Amino acid sequence: MLAAETVQVPLLEVEGLFKGLHKEDGTLEVLQDVFLEVGPGEIIGVVGPSGCGKSTLFNALAGLIPIDRGRIRLNGQEVPNIRGQVAYMQQKDLLLPWRTALDNAILGMEIQGLKKSRARKEAMEILKFFGLEGFQDRYPHELSGGMRQRVALMRTILCRKKILLLDEPFGALDAITRLMLQRWLLRVWMRFRPSILLITHDVDEALILTDRIYVMSLRPATIKRVVPVELERPRSATEKPLIDRKAELLRLLEEEIVETET
Ligand SMILES: Nc1ncnc2c1ncn2[C@@H]1O[C@H](COP(=O)(O)OP(=O)(O)OP(=O)(O)O)[C@@H](O)[C@H]1O
Ligand SMILES: [Mg+2]
Repeated sequence: MLAAETVQVPLLEVEGLFKGLHKEDGTLEVLQDVFLEVGPGEIIGVVGPSGCGKSTLFNALAGLIPIDRGRIRLNGQEVPNIRGQVAYMQQKDLLLPWRTALDNAILGMEIQGLKKSRARKEAMEILKFFGLEGFQDRYPHELSGGMRQRVALMRTILCRKKILLLDEPFGALDAITRLMLQRWLLRVWMRFRPSILLITHDVDEALILTDRIYVMSLRPATIKRVVPVELERPRSATEKPLIDRKAELLRLLEEEIVETET
């Protein structure tokens, strides 16, 4: 019997995206002909040299800044950005110092118009899963770096969006805490199954977590290579196929350093 052919439309498609940022002395061309594709429940990595435009890409996708040119499609439909469908965890820790962990976690829900009491109840239900049980009334300065990042991630998850944009979520943490949070992020992903776009400067992190890695070039940044990972999870950084891909990624990134020096 012939199976009906199903043509899967990607959840998110970006094509030919250009973005320049205005500076006093003119326009800085940041993104040039950027493309990417994200399927439902996929984890996608974005790596590239510092200052190449990774955060700018996320800002544009989230609708914080308009794009100059290009197409963004959500479920095949062209949209100006994906603001309504996305929860964005920005590069810097954006916890409000005057709010408790719990009230920071519900911020996104409150912005969406949910009543505080209802939002708090929902957040309390998943507090344990985020390893924050008993810490709900603490203020950010009373929490460890890893806990603060978990509060920020909890807030992102509680927005209940299909797509998460995570900009270096574990960047500022020590190696062990980062490893723990990476494992824990996979558990979160298995439970809620969002599509995740993850910016990281840590090649091992990209290889351990993602299905596919987009490597960006120096500014004006374009996608210079797409590296499929496609290995069973959980993964270990010491597996041979992972080591091979790591060598390829490092080589791609090193090429960008050489270009800066010459
Ligand atoms: N609001 C802005 N106005 C003008 N220029 C900006 C603005 N924000 C960022 N830039 C510049 O645009 C370029 C891209 O910045 P962006 O933050 O997207 O890079 P990035 O790849 O995320 O870097 P990093 O890895 O250091 O986080 C940089 O040269 C930066 O100085
Ligand atoms: Mg950045």
